[in-house]
Amino acid sequence: MRTEPFAAVDVIRAKRDGGRLSDEQIDWTIDAYTRGAIAEEQMSALAMAIFLRGMDSAEIARWTGAMIESGERLDLHVSRPTVDKHSTGGVGDKITLPLAPLVAACGAAVPQLSGRGLGHTGGTLDKLESIPGWRAELSTAEIVKQLDEIGAVVCAATEGLAPADRKLYALRDVTSTVESIPLIASSIMSKKIAEGSAGLVLDVKTGSGAFMKTREQARELARTLVEIGTAHGVATTALLTDMSVPLGNAVGNAIEVAESVDVLRGGGPADVVELTLALAREMLALAGLSEVDPAEVLASGRAYETWCRMISSQGGDPEASLPKPQHIHVFEAPRDGTLSTLDAYSVGVAAWRLGAGRARRGEAVQYAAGILCLAKPGDPVVAGQPLLELHTDTPDAVPAALASLDGGVLVTDSAPAREPGSIVLETVRPS
Ligand code: URA
Repeated sequence: MRTEPFAAVDVIRAKRDGGRLSDEQIDWTIDAYTRGAIAEEQMSALAMAIFLRGMDSAEIARWTGAMIESGERLDLHVSRPTVDKHSTGGVGDKITLPLAPLVAACGAAVPQLSGRGLGHTGGTLDKLESIPGWRAELSTAEIVKQLDEIGAVVCAATEGLAPADRKLYALRDVTSTVESIPLIASSIMSKKIAEGSAGLVLDVKTGSGAFMKTREQARELARTLVEIGTAHGVATTALLTDMSVPLGNAVGNAIEVAESVDVLRGGGPADVVELTLALAREMLALAGLSEVDPAEVLASGRAYETWCRMISSQGGDPEASLPKPQHIHVFEAPRDGTLSTLDAYSVGVAAWRLGAGRARRGEAVQYAAGILCLAKPGDPVVAGQPLLELHTDTPDAVPAALASLDGGVLVTDSAPAREPGSIVLETVRPS
């Protein structure tokens, strides 16, 4: 039997009592947990100790490095500069869908290894899987080939990428230890650094629909992410963006794909276009392509062409009709006035309850379920006017969805309209 250099109980006690973990303790903890030599209950206790006591920058950097080393690194030898985007997750956040083909059409290579949704935030792969025939699982060779030929890949992370995070994230999910800056930052960055992209733009959400409810927390997370990326030689920038209101009008799976296609065809909601272009500019700057104007490329139709090639290359039919819901419930304005609140978290939970998301890993999602927002904060409305469409294949889910909208959709006498240009709140660059 292998002799272990540390005992898990001593590592837990050190962190529980507010101490810092040594490099050797961190390397051993991640390695031993990955190979099953630290029990799930011990890792649960350590995750809670980290949640409560925090970690300093050196501990976070080492913890991230150990998680990267737990698996393989992708070797993305392609002819274009590689740059990726990661969002900390929000409601109606379909930005990857128009962004990846847009940045590819501008000349970069975008390797978007994405996840499935859990809880009230949707998952990019669930959205794309609503396209008939589309396949999320690709081999490393297929990823590299598609990046070289088309410039954009959105697919599932390969099994071997940061396996320590895969295990730890599932554990954090059921032990209430997700919302910890050291644990979130190391989780995101271990996967992104192992993915092998040279540049990375982080979309750090703040507001009711985000993990980080306050701007201060979001700023701290953004700084931590940028610090880790820079320390690992990845050119990293973060945008702090508003997630108090759902992004765009569509929240769900197939309806978010449809809205993304509208953007790629030159239309779509103003906030989705604004954020797509802001992220594209940052990505192009990191890729050394700042002379290319993404707004021009979007208007030219070249991003839409790249989208069609990207979807077809993964077996999908970009022209196929998308799944339609079996039932639509219309939510009406209760009075005349102005829509003053459309709370992202409430809408996200309602869409999830309608079947757009899953409560447990591995559950199936309904591709047609979701919410279509027919008005946004600042819009004048009259009593009886449809404000939201609730889409589902299971009408029994409607009362629970309506309950989660209670207090989250308000009509008052007046309210300020949301200013154009107010989605991006701050930019965080390496110091
Ligand atoms: N996304 C991740 O990949 N990890 C986290 O911990 C939170 C969001």
